[in-house]
Amino acid sequence: MQQESDHCSPRLKRVILHLDMDAFFAAIEVRENPALRGKPVIVGHRGRRGVVSTCSYEARRFGVHSALPSVTAERLCPEAIWLPVRMKIYSVVSGRIREILQEVSPVVEPVSIDEAFIDLTGISKDFAAARRTGEFLKKEIFDQEKLTSSVGIAPNKFLAKVASDLDKPDGMVILSRQDLSRKLWPLPIDRLWGVGRKTAGALRKAGWNTILDLLNAPRKDLQKVVGSGLADHLLSLARGKDDRPVENGREAKSISEERTYSEDLRDPDRIHREMLARAAGVARSLRDEGLRARTVHLKIRTGDFTTWTRSRTLVAPTNRLEEILAAAGDLYREKIRLGGKGIRLLGIGVSHLREERRGEQIPLFTDPARDLEERVARAEDAVRRRFGEDAVTRAALLGRSRGFPHRE
Ligand code: TTP
Ligand code: MG
Repeated sequence: MQQESDHCSPRLKRVILHLDMDAFFAAIEVRENPALRGKPVIVGHRGRRGVVSTCSYEARRFGVHSALPSVTAERLCPEAIWLPVRMKIYSVVSGRIREILQEVSPVVEPVSIDEAFIDLTGISKDFAAARRTGEFLKKEIFDQEKLTSSVGIAPNKFLAKVASDLDKPDGMVILSRQDLSRKLWPLPIDRLWGVGRKTAGALRKAGWNTILDLLNAPRKDLQKVVGSGLADHLLSLARGKDDRPVENGREAKSISEERTYSEDLRDPDRIHREMLARAAGVARSLRDEGLRARTVHLKIRTGDFTTWTRSRTLVAPTNRLEEILAAAGDLYREKIRLGGKGIRLLGIGVSHLREERRGEQIPLFTDPARDLEERVARAEDAVRRRFGEDAVTRAALLGRSRGFPHRE
């Protein structure tokens, strides 16, 4: 545990590197078809319900960006070349890049398909040495994959992530404590982790646009706008403090399942059934991989592209459908206000995964009923593996369905 920020031991200053690939899906498509080079390329599903996954930097000049509705992108950049998402290829490339990253440190935390944190503490003795490691990684990735990446180097994860974004594409930025006033404080408030669209709106309404504005605001005023917990968290980040360790391997992984519907869902019973199916899939993946999860995430997108992602941490890690569904159901009822709109996308995920040990007893929760339910679930998995997906229907659960009546 790091008590004091920037230190993982009384002597060693932390050196954290964040690497993020440039225009990842689009860059791979351009590499695969060099005729696309220099052109505005958009990867995503076209059409009324589609969104942009990502686009080349040439397309970004027209204002196109990830998550933009495709119809808007088509209007902003009519000459763009559209390509469908080819996830399989991107995953393979991502895996190979991860192997390159693992050459320089055993502590690599993949955050998404195209970015990772690397702990270089004790490996690169200072930021100058880390810069050489960053150059090595960029060159190695380019030589092997013909793709460019951007690197940030800093004393912690938050600053490293901010830094890798400062000189995109093909950039490398060191963000040390001395650079905060010049490189961090002028940035817009939404660069702070924890500031989503809603919080950003509230902060801007109060007249705070940059990170420096937050630092200059009276703490009491800030607390009034975002609550005291978030206010402390934001101020701490704004001062460049972040103690989170780089976690390698499984801890950082997550498992999720989501569906997009051709017609928005409104019927509470149907919504419940869809949640049940997603939770069941996630629980089964956990059991198949011998994992348990501590945090459950619910993602809902309404027809007008408003996206909600809410999560809840459980008392004990689980691999059971009932617990995952219950947490997702609570989040749905308590944290999401659909405002009369139907659901276009519904996803359930889990994170904070840990390997389960054989015969693991969960302290405080060695409940025989829970144990039995888990054995039933495992037996069902075995039947499914042998006879196919539909061999087992959770009739009891479906029958018990009360739907998810929604409080508006
Ligand atoms: P990002 O790293 O956010 O984007 P990027 O690599 O395309 O561009 P940048 O140079 O700014 O880093 O995301 C990595 C990939 O994840 C991206 O290529 C496509 C995918 N993605 C989506 O499918 N939808 C999204 O909303 C986002 C943000 C990314
Ligand atoms: Mg990227």
